[in-house]
Amino acid sequence: MRERPIITIDGPSGAGKTTVSKRLAERASLTRLDTGAMYRACALAAREAGVPWSDGARLGRLCADLRLAFRQEGGEMRILLCGEDASEAIRTPEISMGASEVSTHKAVREAMVRLQRKMGEKGGVVLEGRDTGTVVFPDADAKFVLDAAAAVRARRRFLEWGAGERKPFEEVLREVLLRDIQDSTREHSPLRMAEGAVYIDTTTMTAEEVVEEMLRRLLPEARKGLPGGATL
Ligand code: DC
Repeated sequence: MRERPIITIDGPSGAGKTTVSKRLAERASLTRLDTGAMYRACALAAREAGVPWSDGARLGRLCADLRLAFRQEGGEMRILLCGEDASEAIRTPEISMGASEVSTHKAVREAMVRLQRKMGEKGGVVLEGRDTGTVVFPDADAKFVLDAAAAVRARRRFLEWGAGERKPFEEVLREVLLRDIQDSTREHSPLRMAEGAVYIDTTTMTAEEVVEEMLRRLLPEARKGLPGGATL
């Protein structure tokens, strides 16, 4: 029995997982584990090593030896790839598509899931991704699935970029839809509802409202080990 909870948040791109998991981590003193950042780091490492994103066997070997770590820095979680801070380099639209492609390979998923379980098994953690409640920790203390209308999710992605660096909205929407299809129809660990997960449609909600809703829905078991307990 863990002393501190494991909370999972899954959902498609732009559903609000990152903003919400950051706030939830702050409110409940949990460590945040962004599993998408790990697939992104894998795509970046592959590009740097000249390994095609379509080559599952070579990617699997690359991932098994990948030196990946997270470091908390002034409230922000930085991702280190072979000791180098790759937090910005993994956020480009190109690496987003690459992450979606590398994550379709079984060997890549196995290496990442192994690492994620090791990082989170002691509890006191909130994981965000596509399969954190279905595959990584099916026995999590609380599971959430966030979703929103595709146009709203694309708009959130669009607004993340400064006015000068933005692509046309239609292109962002196309990429979001393409990733939706790839992430939910792949053979291995596709995005789907985890058993016992709470589904929240964030289309018309602010991040704060989503966090409030999540805290309200936390089961008593999951509240144990959180500061403030049931009155959080
Ligand atoms: O959450 P994100 O946009 O940073 O994720 C990037 C890609 O990584 C996403 O398109 C699919 C993949 N991914 C995954 O397959 N499983 C996860 N648990 C997290 C992300």
